[in-house]
Amino acid sequence: MHLHVADHPLVSHKLTLLRDERTPSPTFRQLTEELVTLLTYEATRGLKTVPAEITTPVTTMTGQRLAEPRPMVVPILRAGLGMLEGITRLLPTAEVGFLGLVRDEETFEAVTYANRLPEDLSGRQCYLVDPMLATGGTMVAAIQYLLERGANDVTCICLLAAPEGLSTVEQMVGDEANVKVVVAAVDERLNEKGYIVPGLGDAGDRLFGVV
Ligand code: URA
Repeated sequence: MHLHVADHPLVSHKLTLLRDERTPSPTFRQLTEELVTLLTYEATRGLKTVPAEITTPVTTMTGQRLAEPRPMVVPILRAGLGMLEGITRLLPTAEVGFLGLVRDEETFEAVTYANRLPEDLSGRQCYLVDPMLATGGTMVAAIQYLLERGANDVTCICLLAAPEGLSTVEQMVGDEANVKVVVAAVDERLNEKGYIVPGLGDAGDRLFGVV
C-alpha cells in the first residue's frame, strides 16, 4: 500500500473549516466537494492515457487522452456519496458504481448491504471514496471486493485517516496489490467508539443531517 498525504495550504485551510463543529451541513458539503477535487488531482497522477492525434488552429500534434476502459469511481454508501460531485468534476467520463457497507457498531466489522458494480473489473483503475478511514474494516472489505473482481489498480480517496486504519489496510492488503491511499491528513488515533481524534465527527451525519 502506498500512502499519499496531500500537504497543501488550501487543503489544510479547508480541512480546518470542515473539522470545526460550528460548520453547518451546507458549508460542510461544499468544503467536502472542494477538498475531494483537490485530493482527486493528487490521486489521479497515475491515470492511464493514450496518444491522440489532433489539429490545433495552428498545426497538427499528438496529445494525450484518457485510456479505455474508463476509470471506475466507487463511493461507499452513505458518506461516500457526499464526495461524488467533487471527484466526477475532474473525471466526468468515469463510470460510477456503488458499494453499500455499514459498520457494525459493536464489532466494528463491515457488512455489505448493497452493490452496483460490474462483475468484471479487469484492467480498470478504480477510485474508492469514503470520507473517513477509521478502523479500516470498511475500506479493507471494499478493496477486497474490487480486487476479487479483477481490479489491479485501486486508489482510496479519504478526507481523514487514523493510523490504526492505515495499519489495518497495510496488513490486510499487503504489498503485492497495487493499492494507494490519498488523504488530506492522518490524525492522532481512534477513540473507544471508533471515531477519529481529533477528526470531524460523524461525516455522514454532518453531510446529510442525522436520520
Ligand atoms: N466515521 C465517521 O464518520 N467519523 C469517524 O470519526 C469515524 C468513522
